[in-house]
Amino acid sequence: MSREKITQETIRGMKGNQGIAALTVYDYPITRLLDEIGVPLLLVGDSLGMVVLGYPDTTHVTMDHMEHHVAAAARAKPKAFLVADLPFHSYETPEQAVINARRLIDAGAEAVKAEGGRAILSQIKAIINAGIPVCGHLGMLPQSVLDEGGYKIKGRVEQERVQLMIDAKALERAGAFAIILELVLREVAAEITDQINIPTIGIGSGDRCDGQILVSHDLFGLFPWFTPKFVKPKMQGGLQIQSTVSEWIRTVQNLKSE
Ligand code: KIV
Repeated sequence: MSREKITQETIRGMKGNQGIAALTVYDYPITRLLDEIGVPLLLVGDSLGMVVLGYPDTTHVTMDHMEHHVAAAARAKPKAFLVADLPFHSYETPEQAVINARRLIDAGAEAVKAEGGRAILSQIKAIINAGIPVCGHLGMLPQSVLDEGGYKIKGRVEQERVQLMIDAKALERAGAFAIILELVLREVAAEITDQINIPTIGIGSGDRCDGQILVSHDLFGLFPWFTPKFVKPKMQGGLQIQSTVSEWIRTVQNLKSE
């Protein structure tokens, strides 16, 4: 069945109508598989650095890495809206943000995501003014993990709750089409969701956001060495690969001895 192309307007229009199920992708086959079953939003996340490239965190991911993987995902020509992360230190000024957002669009992305609220508002506005849709990202910001000393829940203290709300409203006013809320206290994520008119897409932020996003390797059990506490893998991909290969090794070994 052919589906309509998903756009930022489609994603905006899903708020209050249908939960938005979003997943990360990094290559052609998984993008194509997830697109064929109708995932509406696919993110080439900079989690690429950890689950594909083997770095300890996302701060090692470069524009070259992102372009390479965005291009691979885009070759699947998804009907899904394809969003790409601007990596660490690639949007320090409005000018740099626009240049790098354009590079990701030229590689095949349809929108970019950047981490932060008021602190990067001039960059967000510059990208949107250049005609490129932007997804915000608030709460725990993985690109700041070294400064923050770990992946901690945000919104537990009143001041944090207030700052998150102000940032979410600022992103909405700036024209972001959606906001990822990462590791935000459930009640705070719910309050933000209720008070803004663009969709919130949660990760580890409870069940009251307008959508949910997961790192696909976590959902598939393909990175068994670390699974975030809030994820329940739906398959044991890593173990399935290992048992398939063990069986195949035995077959090959037996061929030799026959
Ligand atoms: O890089 C990524 O995969 C992300 C998700 C965790 C939202 O930003």
